[in-house]
Amino acid sequence: MQNSPRQIFPGVFLIRGRIATASLAPGFRVYNEDTEKIGGVQYRLWNARKSKLGAAIVKGLKNLPITPGGSVLYIGAASGTTASHVSDIVTGEGVVFCVEFAPRAVRDLVKVCERRENMLPIPEDARTPENYADVVAEEAPDGVDAVFQDVADPEQVRILKINCERFLKKGGTALLALKARSISGTGDPQEIYARVLREVQTDFEVVQRIDLAPYDIDHMFLALRKKS
Ligand SMILES: C[S@@+](CC[C@H](N)C(=O)[O-])C[C@H]1O[C@@H](n2cnc3c(N)ncnc32)[C@H](O)[C@@H]1O
Repeated sequence: MQNSPRQIFPGVFLIRGRIATASLAPGFRVYNEDTEKIGGVQYRLWNARKSKLGAAIVKGLKNLPITPGGSVLYIGAASGTTASHVSDIVTGEGVVFCVEFAPRAVRDLVKVCERRENMLPIPEDARTPENYADVVAEEAPDGVDAVFQDVADPEQVRILKINCERFLKKGGTALLALKARSISGTGDPQEIYARVLREVQTDFEVVQRIDLAPYDIDHMFLALRKKS
């Protein structure tokens, strides 16, 4: 059948060349995304122009550490656009901890979480992980399988490190969407990337590096494996 979804990662599908996830909350859209019902399943087409994780998948991410039944710490969840696809992928057997500190975004995020039991909103600043350690420990006492971070903050690397040190399982994977212009408004993006790569290598092995252009200009996406 021409329309049959082809699975490219567990929980991620290709439908006529577009990536998609099977909706955990059929009938509810999160960011006015296109949907398609095939074989009794409602798929949500994943817009790579509105999601850096979506863009990384389209641009050739080799391994997706976010899997059905898995636990994910999502830092910089905003109003839940990408986090909702992560929620679809981990299914009701998994959990997505959604850290976000902007009040307006949190209001929208909470509405999305109300439709999805596996998404837990954490209205906190990711620079103080001790403030949500109890919430994470309750659902994921051994740590999380993956950390995804997209905060567009000059301190992105430090925020990633302190959260992974506390919450990511040894050997677990961190995905970092890095915005060069947030680290430095004027520096050469290639020099900024080189500096960030040096900084992350104290704690992580760099598994893959993806330039997100043309979806996001001056953004680098990193897949990192925690060393210890
Ligand atoms: C680029 S947006 C994230 C978009 C989102 N990842 C998506 O694809 O749907 C960055 C978000 O990170 C949040 N953020 C930035 N610094 C943060 C911090 N220290 N703690 C928590 N959230 C933060 C911002 O409020 C913003 O909503």
